[in-house]
Order: sequence, then C-alpha cells, then structure tokens
Amino acid sequence: MIHEKPGLFPDTFLWGSASAAYQVEGAWNTDGKGPSVWDFFTKIPGKTFKGSNGDTAVGHYERYKEDIALMAEMGLKAYRFSVSWPRIFPKGRGEINEAGIAFYENLIDELISNNIEPVLTLYHWDLPQALMDEYGGFESRKIIDDFNNYCVALYKRFAGKVKYWVTLNEQNYNFHNGFITASHPPGVKDRKRFYEANHIAFLANAKAIESFRKYVPDGLIGPSFAYSPAYPLTSHPEDITAFENAEEFMNHWWLDMYCWGTYPQIPFSYLKEKGWAPAIEAGDMELLAKGKPDFIGVNYYQTITYERNPLDGVSEGKMNTTGQKGTNQDTGIPGLFKTKKNPDLVTSNWDWTIDPTGLRIGLRRITSRYQLPVFVTENGLGEFDKIEEDGSIQDDYRIDYLRSHLEQCREAISDGVNLIGYCSWSFTDLLSWLNGYQKRYGFVYINRDEEDEKDLKRIRKKSFYWYQNVIETNGKSL
Ligand code: BG6
Repeated sequence: MIHEKPGLFPDTFLWGSASAAYQVEGAWNTDGKGPSVWDFFTKIPGKTFKGSNGDTAVGHYERYKEDIALMAEMGLKAYRFSVSWPRIFPKGRGEINEAGIAFYENLIDELISNNIEPVLTLYHWDLPQALMDEYGGFESRKIIDDFNNYCVALYKRFAGKVKYWVTLNEQNYNFHNGFITASHPPGVKDRKRFYEANHIAFLANAKAIESFRKYVPDGLIGPSFAYSPAYPLTSHPEDITAFENAEEFMNHWWLDMYCWGTYPQIPFSYLKEKGWAPAIEAGDMELLAKGKPDFIGVNYYQTITYERNPLDGVSEGKMNTTGQKGTNQDTGIPGLFKTKKNPDLVTSNWDWTIDPTGLRIGLRRITSRYQLPVFVTENGLGEFDKIEEDGSIQDDYRIDYLRSHLEQCREAISDGVNLIGYCSWSFTDLLSWLNGYQKRYGFVYINRDEEDEKDLKRIRKKSFYWYQNVIETNGKSL
C-alpha cells in the first residue's frame, strides 16, 4: 500500500520510552524487598553473560529523580516502567511492604509533576522467589489469586494517578525461555509444562483484567506481547505451511487468547495429539472471556523467517548472547517449522534481524485480526556503544534503527492502525537479562560494565537529542 501523502502522528500520541524493574533498579534487598527468581537465577554459573546480574543494575532506585529530570529535559510524554512484585509483597502475599510501594508512589508523582504519563507494567518477570519455592510459581493455580491480590493492591493505590497499565510483559518469550530453552527461571525443558504454565498465566491475566474494571474503571489495560511476525523463506507450499504453523503456534496462541479468550483450533488439535494440551477446568473459559484488553502492547524487535522442518529436523539451537555476529543457530519444532536467516535482511551484532517494515506488517496483522488499538511498548536496538575522546556517544546506527521503525509506524497509521503510542527500549542503558551490560539500548549511556560498576554516570547519547527533536515536532521531523 503506497500512500500519496505522508501520514501524521496524532496530537495525543504517547512518545515514550521503557524499562523494567530488575534491569534498572538495583537495590535488590533494600527497604524490605524480598528476593525474586532473578536474584537467584543470575547467580547460577553460566546462566548470564559474564555472570552479570541486577544487584546494582544502573542504580535507578537511588537515582530515579536524576533519570526523570533527563526524561523531562528530553520532553518525554510517557515512561513505561515495571513494579517489582517482591518489593510490594516480599513473600508474594501478606502485608504490603510500605517502603517498597512508597518508592513507586514517589516515582509516579515525580513523573506526573514533570508531565510524563506513567505506564505501569505489573509483571516483568521478577516473580517473588517465595512463590516459586512454595508452589512453583506459574505452575500452580494458586498464583491466580496471589497475582490478583498484588494487582489489586496497586490498583487501589494508583488508580487516580496511572491511566495506562500493562499486565504481563512478554509471557510468550519469558515462558519459552523458562520452559523450552531453560534460559530463564525456572530453567526447565518440558513442552507439557510450558503449555500448562501458559494456561495458568492466561487465567491470571484475565482475572487481573476483570479486577481492573472494578478498581480502575477509567484506565486502560493490556498485555505486552513479544511479537515477531512470521515470514516464509520461499513460496514453496511447504514453507508457506511452516510459516502458517509458526504464526499459529508462536503468535496466535497468545494473541487469540488475550483478545478473544479462545485457543486457535489447529495448534490445540496438534497439542492434544502430542499430549501437550493444557488441562481446561470448569469455569476457565468463562474467566478467560473476561480478560479482553483495551489495547495490545507490542514489543517489536524483529521478524522471524521460517521453512519446513522434517520430523527428524532441527529442534534446539544456541542463542547469540555475546554479540559475536553469526553465532546464532537455527531452532525449530520437528514436523512444524524451523527458523532460517532471511537473505533479504541485515542483522545486529546479536544476530537480530533489522526489519522496520516488519513492524508495519505486525501492526496491520494485529489490527486486521483483532480490531484493537495498539501500543508499541518496546522497540529498539541493542548494540555496542563507544565513548569518543570528546566524551560523546555517536550512536547513529541507533538513530537509523529508530527512525526507520517510526517511519513504518507512521505508514501503519496511514494504513488505518490505531496506534496510541510508542515506547523505545530503553531510556537509559540497562541490564540485558542474558547479554550483560555491553548490549546497550538507551538514549542515555550508563558508565558501568559487567566487571566494574564504576560511577554509573549518565551521559546523553546523540540519539537523546534526536528523539528530543522527534517529540518536539510530534514526529514530523524524524
Ligand atoms: C524484551 C524484554 O524481551 O526485550 C526486555 O521485555 C529486554 O526486558 C528486551 O531487555 C531486549 O532483549 P535483550 O535480550 O536484548 O535484553
């Protein structure tokens, strides 16, 4: 679709940037915070790049005012952050830890006083370790009530201050890593457990949204989905089938459930045949139907290209977590699909394809299928950055990445997508879960690396000034 005139971003567009508690806060045991699963998992040798962890992260817990002052200087309209559940309930439930909730209250107040819209993520992977120890986290239905209780505590406290809420961040990616590749907690490889835990998470998501309607009737809520639109490698009908399998199993499985409260039929039938289908109990489908979101949060980094995979084909492949280009391996599900490098696209040093048009394609697919507003809740480029002799950081590659993706957002708006906002990932550099501190995403450089916390000094990169101008011109000058 080629439009004759360039589109416009609406005046109400939320120009934002994002982060997550474990990746920025540090202060892992300060002011009564309980441990999360990541506080333990990152200490297991070999799990993260150079054993990096978020004990200190980028010191946002102490420096949040300094960080918000930088956001205000930039003119940011929205800041997406996550609340650490074990800061609020150190053991997952029970008495609220007042010091923990006060941190977020202060953060939200500081944002509001700087005219920055808070976008609050309820769950960005840092499950209280106590609930993992007690009943295995999302592998038990007990989490549905505990998660709801935690969400309601935040709804009651922040209903008048926070309008935009995100339920679960990237349930698909986090659970895939937790139950298929064992690279996130709980670190297992078991497809049956993967689908069971996902089903329980869908129920927890739906219940949290059901409660939201009661406590925050004027707010808007939705999950953030790690959306990698699928492409076929060739037009061979078997590759097209593989691509459709991938779209169904990797995307519709989650999006259909969030938006419609139902599982897609083809994958469900396959999972039944394999013995991997989740157990559906009485009342589940009624609850799931109540989870309809107000918007779909899209975390977009790349498209993934698929081809046919025989029954004795590829299943596991190593992920590039070092930044050594070309070390990523293909993965797949025998009999369904396998990934393949797209010959038409370049990649980052972490082998993530760079495909701005894929964002437009993804936004259109969601709009056409679900007819809901979309919020890009993450999009960005993780790369090595270098401080020049004059102290500047010339991250033109990041500007190019963000600019080209925003151009495609504008095209998507012209196509008819109801796009309410865009949060780049990320505002400051932060801990990349498995890739350490060297994979940098921010507009603001943080002076630290894996071995040395240094002084955590904040340095504005070239992209900081570029995005400042984008916001000032409401996207007219990209
Ligand atoms: C998303 C997460 O998966 O992508 C973020 O929501 C994460 O928390 C981001 O940091 C980038 O991924 P990575 O692995 O490069 O840090």
